[in-house]
Amino acid sequence: MEEKKRGAFSGSLGFVLAAAGSAVGLGNLWRFPYLAAKNGGGLFLVIYIVLALTFGFTMLTTEIAIGRKTKQSPLTAYGRLHSKFKFTGVLACLIPFLILPYYCAIGGWVLKYFIAFVTGNGAKAANGDYFGGFITSFSEPIILMLVFFAITAFIVFAGVDKGIESFSKICMPALLILVIGISIYSLTLKSDATGTVRTGLQGLAIYLIPNFDGLTVGGFFSVLMDAMGQLFFSLSVAMGIMIAYGSYVSDDTDLKKSVNQIELCDTGVAFLAGVMIIPAVCTFMGPDVMKSTAGPGLMFVALPQVFQAMGVVGNFIGALFFAMVFFAALTSSVSIMEAVVSSFMDQFGWSRKGASCVEGLLALILGVVVCLGYNKLYFEFKLPNGSVAQILDIMDYISNNLFMPIVALAECVLVGWVLGPSTIEDEITKSGCTFGRKTLYELMVKFIAPILLFILFLRAAGVLTII
Ligand code: ALA
Repeated sequence: MEEKKRGAFSGSLGFVLAAAGSAVGLGNLWRFPYLAAKNGGGLFLVIYIVLALTFGFTMLTTEIAIGRKTKQSPLTAYGRLHSKFKFTGVLACLIPFLILPYYCAIGGWVLKYFIAFVTGNGAKAANGDYFGGFITSFSEPIILMLVFFAITAFIVFAGVDKGIESFSKICMPALLILVIGISIYSLTLKSDATGTVRTGLQGLAIYLIPNFDGLTVGGFFSVLMDAMGQLFFSLSVAMGIMIAYGSYVSDDTDLKKSVNQIELCDTGVAFLAGVMIIPAVCTFMGPDVMKSTAGPGLMFVALPQVFQAMGVVGNFIGALFFAMVFFAALTSSVSIMEAVVSSFMDQFGWSRKGASCVEGLLALILGVVVCLGYNKLYFEFKLPNGSVAQILDIMDYISNNLFMPIVALAECVLVGWVLGPSTIEDEITKSGCTFGRKTLYELMVKFIAPILLFILFLRAAGVLTII
């Protein structure tokens, strides 16, 4: 009865597509390629893949199993396992609450560029001042944020199987086709726009071949920490989402297989994001631009210029690219909202409609504040990592850099030391499957993950400055 009221995925395919949809998002598309280019190409890739198979596997397995075991949302799940860990649930719910407003604001930016390219205005979008002019304007970013949010809320409102699952089943295959198609196209590029003839395959070599030039022990740790921070956001762990989604999974689903499939999809798309973006940027703008341009600068300034340099096909490729980013962002924002909505439902006994309305209203107010952070509410704030931040960056920093390592660390202590790893292992093997990487899991959850997470937290808080 309780499960019916909370909703459930119809089967393991629906669950895997929804969870992979959550994982594949802006993190894969605008941060992964930049981090890979900045951190020595293949070196970053190897470290990231090793971390995904060890650390990512541990966190993802733990969270999905906690969700399924407790049949609770993030806010209440940790407290069910141990009353002293209720605070972890509060933080795990606060994180998606903080992320949703700025994710929707960025979703609005994606819409703006999609519209620009689809209406043949790619040349305008490629102008260096276009992005700044747009986000500092008053009403347009707010209206587009509202549109993106309305679509997100509509899907969450429709429920787990009829909304989230049905939407993911359409969106994810479309997304994967676009990712693969654009990646192949990117490798065929050739241009002398930088004064030297460059090809997509040369860009691919920059991406894949490890660069150890000047690598020190400190530098290696820095790459490791960058990869770990990226992994959290990318896999949607430590932000309550996988607990919420895990709580909708039936007891006979093979969680081990599902975890592998979700990881494969997320890491595969992150890798292909590099194949799409790095060769294109290197061909038309040169390799150095890739190493110095991250996040919004890469997606909304450098890439439109790349599409423009492609000539007549640029508008078409740009429209396809932003359609793909839009799908990726939408399946993620749906999961971010669901983590909060399910928490309100479980904690306060509200209906899905009631919880969606309350969270929707709060997210909208904060979303407007985020948009105004670039005009009426503009200020500059120096973060502990030295970068200058506006409201969006501050919310991103608090949720990703500070709260997420705390949630993950508390989770490792709870599972590794307080309850014991067998709590998770029993949940995984309940469906009759084996727990293949059991020793690795125990080693990670008890020792390696907590140590790395502690270092990550100290680094993000500005306490540890040597790496
Ligand atoms: N995992 C989602 C992303 O990468 C939140 O954007």
